Amino acid sequence: MTIGVIGGSGIYDALPLENTRTEAISTPYGEPSDVVTLGELAGRDVAFLPRHGEDHQHPPTDASYRANIYALKSVGVDRVIATNAVGSLREELPPRTLVVPDQIFDRTKHRSPTFFGDGMVVHMGFAEPYCPAMVDHLAESARSVLRSETHTSGHPESHDATADETKIQESGTYVCIEGPQFSTKAESEFYRDQGWDIVGMTAIPEAKLAREAELSYATVAGVTDYDVWKDDSEVSLEEVLENAAANEDAINTVVEHAIRTMPDDFESEAWSALEGTINTPQEAIPEETLE
Ligand code: ADE
Repeated sequence: MTIGVIGGSGIYDALPLENTRTEAISTPYGEPSDVVTLGELAGRDVAFLPRHGEDHQHPPTDASYRANIYALKSVGVDRVIATNAVGSLREELPPRTLVVPDQIFDRTKHRSPTFFGDGMVVHMGFAEPYCPAMVDHLAESARSVLRSETHTSGHPESHDATADETKIQESGTYVCIEGPQFSTKAESEFYRDQGWDIVGMTAIPEAKLAREAELSYATVAGVTDYDVWKDDSEVSLEEVLENAAANEDAINTVVEHAIRTMPDDFESEAWSALEGTINTPQEAIPEETLE
């Protein structure tokens, strides 16, 4: 197995990878957002890519989603742990909560959502946009590291807060907006009315492309702010960045634990996601083969 990690550069700095080397990978979809860092952790092969580039220079609309997934696939990655910064649509998910979402609502408008096209039609199932096996594993990792800290920090009565108040929610719907602007109040209230939980700008098309590449993929999302439904104020970038930095430790702890404890018998339906989905249009098939 090779485990891909897509996230902020803070994750790579914090993961105690050994025997590291970097690979610059060219792809038919352009350059990935950065070189891929390959290394080992607890005997597992790990490949890391920062989604927005080392200096956070790629905005959500233009991040190299296709090149990133292609590059990870080409170094042998079969499963991906992603991380995202998100706003909260729920009172009970305050900033510094971690969420392992299990659903996505796509509100993006200007991103290529597929590797296919040009005569190759692929309609693949995406009812479960995150790989359920990976969702379960990340949720279990979050529960075990964050809750065991709870117990050693002297708050055994609390099952959702560590000493520094990291809460976790093990499911939820991530609505992915185009950005780069944050939402209007009308949009934010609409998302809440739908029952959705968190809002961000990077789940799509990454999750779709990961499925097309037959990768098991799920994410740990760190809440950085209450979206604008809550207060009169705008979402402030300063607050987002401050809480993103504060979430880094908890996210890194969960990701590291998830890598260390990745089960050998992990089975993902994503690994055969393309089976039976590729339909070559009839006009592309020479007539004699149709007779
Ligand atoms: N990323 C972090 N906070 C966000 C928010 N409120 N809306 C969209 N993306 C975000």
